[in-house]
Amino acid sequence: MGGRVEGKVAFITGAARGQGRSHAVRLAEEGADIIAIDVCGPISSHTDIPPATPEDLAETADLVKGLNRRIVTAEVDVRDYAAVKAAVDSGVEQLGRLDIVVANAGIGNGGQTLDHTSEEDWTDMIDVNLSGVWKSVKAAVPHLLSGGQGGSIILTSSVGGLKPYAHTGHYIAAKHGVIGLMRTFAVELGQHSIRVNAVCPTNVNTPLFMNEGTMKLFRPDLENPGPDDLAVAAQFMHVLPIGWVEPRDISNAVLFLASDEARYVTGLPMTVDAGSMLK
Ligand SMILES: NC(=O)c1ccc[n+]([C@@H]2O[C@H](COP(=O)([O-])OP(=O)(O)OC[C@H]3O[C@@H](n4cnc5c(N)ncnc54)[C@H](O)[C@@H]3O)[C@@H](O)[C@H]2O)c1
Repeated sequence: MGGRVEGKVAFITGAARGQGRSHAVRLAEEGADIIAIDVCGPISSHTDIPPATPEDLAETADLVKGLNRRIVTAEVDVRDYAAVKAAVDSGVEQLGRLDIVVANAGIGNGGQTLDHTSEEDWTDMIDVNLSGVWKSVKAAVPHLLSGGQGGSIILTSSVGGLKPYAHTGHYIAAKHGVIGLMRTFAVELGQHSIRVNAVCPTNVNTPLFMNEGTMKLFRPDLENPGPDDLAVAAQFMHVLPIGWVEPRDISNAVLFLASDEARYVTGLPMTVDAGSMLK
C-alpha cells in the first residue's frame, strides 16, 4: 500500500458502486479516510438500470475498512442540498478534516433525440448531473477553506462533456455544464490553493454503461445485442483497440489529481478516453 494521499480525508458522491466505489477504494489504498454518500435508490425517470442499494454502500464501507481506513457513509440524494451539507458536516466532524472532493454521482439514460426528450428526463438529468455536482461542491467548500491547507476538487464529467453524441443531449448538456462549473470553481478557489479539475471518461465498465439500453443504442441493427456486440461497436469510438475502460482507470486519474503530485494542476478536463477525443 502506498501513501500518496496519506492522512487526507476525501468526500465522494455516488460511492455505493461503480466508479465512486472504486475511487473510495483507490484513495483508501493510498492512505485517505472517506466520507461516502449515495442515493441508494432509483431516480424517477431513470428506470432502465437497476438502482444502487444500501447493501452496495455497505460493501464500499467494508472494502475501505478492509484497508484499515475509516469511512463515514450516508444515504443522501445530491439534489437535496441540506442533506448533502448535513452529511459532509457530520463526516468532517467525525474524521476531523476535509482535503479532497470527488463529485462523481450521476445518471445516464439515452435513446432520445433532444426534441423527443421528455421534460421529466431533462429535469432529472440536469438536477442530478449538473446541479447535484454544484451542491456537492458548495457543501464541501467551507470545510476546505476552514482547513486552511488548500484542497483538491475533482468533478466527474465525461468525453460527453467535451464533444456531443446524438440521442443523449440532456446528458451532454449536463456534462458540458460540469466543465463550466469546474472552470469557474477553479478561478474562484485558486487563491486559497484549492485546485479544481475534471475527469472525462469514455465508456466505463459499470452498470451505467454495461446495460441493455446501451447495447440497443449501440447496436440498433440487432434484436438482442450482448456485451460482445457492444464491444465491436464501442471500439470504433477509440484510437486504442478497446470498447471501454475499467473503473480503476478513472480512479488512477482521480488519485493523481487528488495527490500533491498534481499540486499545480488546476482547471484541467483530464480525459481517460482511449483516444476518443482524437476522433
Ligand atoms: N460508465 C460510463 O460509461 C461513464 C462515462 C463517462 C462518465 N460517467 C460518469 O461517471 C459517474 C459515475 O457513474 P458510474 O459509471 O460509476 O455509474 P453507476 O451507475 O455504477 O454509479 C453511479 C452512482 O451514483 C449514484 N447516484 C445517482 N444519482 C444520485 C443522486 N441523485 N444522489 C446520490 N447518488 C446518486 C448511484 O446510486 C450510483 O451508485 C457519473 O457521473 C457518470 O455520468 C460514466
